[in-house]
Amino acid sequence: MESEKLTFSIAVSGKGGTGKTTITALLVRALIKKVNGPILVIDADPNSNLNEALGININNTIGDLRESFLKNKDNLPPEQSKEDYLNYLIQSSIIETDDYDFIAMGRPEGPGCYCFINNILRKILDTISHHYPLVLIDTEAGLEHFSRRTTRDLDLLLVATDPTISGARTAKRIKELCKELHINIEKTLLIVNRVPPSMKERIDEVIKASGMDYLSMIPEDPLIQQFNAEGKPLFDLPSSCIALKAVDNLVNGLILQLITT
Ligand SMILES: Nc1ncnc2c1ncn2[C@@H]1O[C@H](COP(=O)(O)OP(=O)(O)OP(=O)(O)O)[C@@H](O)[C@H]1O
Ligand SMILES: [Mg+2]
Repeated sequence: MESEKLTFSIAVSGKGGTGKTTITALLVRALIKKVNGPILVIDADPNSNLNEALGININNTIGDLRESFLKNKDNLPPEQSKEDYLNYLIQSSIIETDDYDFIAMGRPEGPGCYCFINNILRKILDTISHHYPLVLIDTEAGLEHFSRRTTRDLDLLLVATDPTISGARTAKRIKELCKELHINIEKTLLIVNRVPPSMKERIDEVIKASGMDYLSMIPEDPLIQQFNAEGKPLFDLPSSCIALKAVDNLVNGLILQLITT
């Protein structure tokens, strides 16, 4: 029997390059120490790079574990079940920092099947994540996650878009697909990212085209570009960074309110 669900789960989605990883990293930065206990951060993009944005090294992704599991699962000591062994492998891939724990899903080595990774992601969401007050998931581009129904039972889905009508239409499709697939998402909100000062007035049209409830916009921030160009982790952005300030505001506003109620 699963224990009562106390975890609040947030996934960041959106089409490629809309800022999912950036927003997730800024959310981690804005949310640590504001929730009661460590956050579980999951990089569910096979092209994992959230760890770089956070400034941590990863040894093993879940994809890497598949090889060990397949190789050893039939030669386990009698007291260890396959399930125990898998749990052990998953636990050993969790990176612990002072403020959050981190898992990268990665991709299967060789011509492997993503089912393994998706099953493990489901398992993590259904079990391990319950030990954390908050789970934050950076998803892959496109809708693959949703069509494979790995991201389920989310409290909050944040859909990122650039400030264009076509971006907003993609955001709308993501929301519609979630509905069609009966994915259980409590709330879906739009974030319009990379908004240059000249676009602020036109943002209403973008929100309207998305047909979604609007959470916030994040300004285009040259400092983010600079950190990326210099290979510096976004986690170390100064608190004066305008994009971080925008994320801080949305955390202190609606997000903390949703988490604590
Ligand atoms: N608010 C912002 N201001 C300036 N640059 C930004 C902002 N948000 C994201 N970027 C830049 O946009 C690019 C794409 O961002 P990011 O990698 O976060 O997107 P993504 O949706 O995770 O992409 P992918 O689909 O490849 O995973 C990066 O170069 C990032 O530095
Ligand atoms: Mg990304």
